[in-house]
Amino acid sequence: MPLLIRNGEIVTADSRFKADIYVENETVTALGHILQTPRRAEVIDATGKLIFPGFIDPHVHIHLPFMATFAKDTHRTASIAALAGGTTTFIEMCCPSRTDGALDAYQTWRAKANGHSACDYTFHMAVTKFDDRTEAQLREIVADGISSFKIFLAYKNFFGVDDDEMYRTLTLARKLGVIVTAHCENAELVSRLQQELIAANKTGPEHHEPSRPESVEAEGTHRFATFLETTGAAGYVVHLSCEPALRMATRAKERGTAIFVESVIPHFMLDKTYAERPGVEGMKHVMSPPLRAKHNQKILWDALNAGLIDTVGTDHCPFDTEQKLLGKDAFTQIPNGIPGIEERINLLYTYGVKRGLLDIHRFVDAASTKPAKLFGLFPRKGTIAVGSDADLVIYDPSYRGTISSATHHFNCDYNGFEGMPIEGRPSLVTVRGKVQFRDGTFVGDATRGQFLKREPTHFR
Ligand code: URP
Ligand code: ZN
Ligand code: ZN
Repeated sequence: MPLLIRNGEIVTADSRFKADIYVENETVTALGHILQTPRRAEVIDATGKLIFPGFIDPHVHIHLPFMATFAKDTHRTASIAALAGGTTTFIEMCCPSRTDGALDAYQTWRAKANGHSACDYTFHMAVTKFDDRTEAQLREIVADGISSFKIFLAYKNFFGVDDDEMYRTLTLARKLGVIVTAHCENAELVSRLQQELIAANKTGPEHHEPSRPESVEAEGTHRFATFLETTGAAGYVVHLSCEPALRMATRAKERGTAIFVESVIPHFMLDKTYAERPGVEGMKHVMSPPLRAKHNQKILWDALNAGLIDTVGTDHCPFDTEQKLLGKDAFTQIPNGIPGIEERINLLYTYGVKRGLLDIHRFVDAASTKPAKLFGLFPRKGTIAVGSDADLVIYDPSYRGTISSATHHFNCDYNGFEGMPIEGRPSLVTVRGKVQFRDGTFVGDATRGQFLKREPTHFR
């Protein structure tokens, strides 16, 4: 059914204006002052609300075999949680282990998502080894509509690639116009530090951060930037967490390197004292790169507002309490990850926009428009314009609530942001013109989500 959204205030990455929005056949077909209600249209009154383009989470894990277990969400639970928080498209990491073939893994991830997502989605294809068969397989995956790769400089012997494999991946990516996203930590140093700490009987979650200090992330970021400069490929640092790594990325930007930076919501909101909490409470807050010393948070907010950090994702990765306890005798066995697919937008809005740390247009840009541009989805996604997909978030800035595992929609028995007040939430969310979420309740079609085919755009 066509939709007519009246009286809302539209906010995009570069404009703010009052207008009605008319939606037909999945797209926005008119914007302006629409006097007549077309026959058969559902009318939605957005008086007092902001209307944002559907948000894009550029970094989530849903199907994830990792650290002797599997992340807990299905595509159904994760996508409904995404919509509850205003995210209408996510980009999932397709992460084979080094013993799996890229093409087989890609088909597995596609099959897991196909017909099971309530919102639209695509994948970053992780290159976790580069041997003689890899190039042909990656070319096939790109031809199927994937225009971004992922490499891990961390996780030695599991996802991690060595420098030779990084070089080969970037060289191919440059030829194909594909952007390469990278987890930047020095795997060898992490492994050595982990062994030393465990040998000294330092086994609790509070030792996770010292095993992956800021310098180790800064080294990985600098090395990735150097390889980008040398190969001419375009790159994107995922989940950057601290000032020394930011400095490396910023210097590379200043030198003209095609390097983009993502930080994720836990690093803006939580600090390393959360992982220092006793027992499983600390384990719930173990992720990599780790939660950092608190002074980094203001640095990240400032860099985000200034555009030195390009995007904000979540690194959504739900492992429940029982799984976290796999690491009760050694922090190195705690499955890494903190979920956040549902909380990202409300936290950015409350603690960024409302507290005066983040310009509202930069907020839309970092959480929607820039991911769409970097990953080949713009202008179909990432804006509100005639011809764009009608992925719309009607946002209620007067809502007041508290984050709680009792009410969240993803599949995990705790929430890393438990108890945090929020000031605003989506009151209605559409995916390609269909109302999927209304006033905190999923009212839509859990199979509506489509795989988004993307073209490479990073030719240099
Ligand atoms: O701790 C994290 N980040 N878990 C998910 C895997 C990754 O490194 O992105
Ligand atoms: Zn990572
Ligand atoms: Zn991740």
